[in-house]
Amino acid sequence: MFEELLRRWDGEHAVIRHDSESDAWMLVCLHSTRLGPAMGGTRLKSYEGPAEALEDALRLSAGMTRKLAVLGLPCGGGKAVLAVPDVPTGNARRRLFERYGELIESLGGSFVTGPDVNTREADMDVIGERTRHVFCRSTAEGGSGDPSIHTALGVYHGIRATLAHVDGSDDLAGRKVLVQGTGSVGAKLARLLLDAGAIVLVSDVDEERARATGGSPVPADGALELECDVYAPCALGATLNADSIPKLRCRIVAGAANNQLAEPEDGELLREAGIVYAPDYVINGGGALHGIGLEQLGWDADRLEREVAGIADTLTGIYRQADAERITTNEAAERLAAERLSGGGLGVSAPQR
Ligand code: PHE
Repeated sequence: MFEELLRRWDGEHAVIRHDSESDAWMLVCLHSTRLGPAMGGTRLKSYEGPAEALEDALRLSAGMTRKLAVLGLPCGGGKAVLAVPDVPTGNARRRLFERYGELIESLGGSFVTGPDVNTREADMDVIGERTRHVFCRSTAEGGSGDPSIHTALGVYHGIRATLAHVDGSDDLAGRKVLVQGTGSVGAKLARLLLDAGAIVLVSDVDEERARATGGSPVPADGALELECDVYAPCALGATLNADSIPKLRCRIVAGAANNQLAEPEDGELLREAGIVYAPDYVINGGGALHGIGLEQLGWDADRLEREVAGIADTLTGIYRQADAERITTNEAAERLAAERLSGGGLGVSAPQR
């Protein structure tokens, strides 16, 4: 299974370490260093087995290459997964991140990481004790802090741009949005949408957490089948598949989760269903802009805000190209990424920043 996964993957290499103390698999996937060192978050999660974890990491790393290319950043793409028997806490957690920090350090800067599902500022601080190749440590430790507000803001701007493309107006007042997953990004997105006057349905496996957002909680089971203007997946990936797409009753899919499409063909199913899909790695780039922009590119807060708002224009361009060429929005996004990657993304085809 490992063999097949790596054979099919178009990335550069994966570094795999089994951590005997915790029985965790540390899987660092460097998908592309074409535009610069590989960058991407570290996901902490338990999986059915190491192969399932590797598959997730490989796919996520490819998404990072495209994400950072589309954003016009001088960075390659990678991703790491720490596949654990159980998500650790306390001292066991600290020690896991110390050893993981040593692994990152051994890669000599070819991979730079940041937070992702189940990892946060405090974990980045621990990694940072062993290596400087980490984004989003706490501000007290000299990092840029939690990026999730900027991921949420990017998705918010992206939802407005998608509404404008579909309806001619980006006004959120009275629009119904389903936010699926109210973790660090989903909860902040729900807040932004509520403040703009939207009707916000929230679902989460943890119902208390959903309720705390101020939105209207709906049961996680069957949430996808509710009628709404926008479905915003903000939990784990692959919620869009041959099974779920026929049941959707939204007009737009635009959310923060990575790897929303189970298969690339699912983009075609959405198009046939008349649903406009905001490609995940385009709309969710705000977190990467935060970490990389503030820490690597020397941006100030104003510049970051402008870049995050610019996600709206990138999406609008993608929708126009998809319409003009009668292709799916994910294909249009992929072409844009490929252009940046082959044109040496930092040359003539790079955006003015
Ligand atoms: N979780 C972020 C993402 O998927 C990863 C990230 C954060 C990468 C900060 C770089 C810096 O985009």
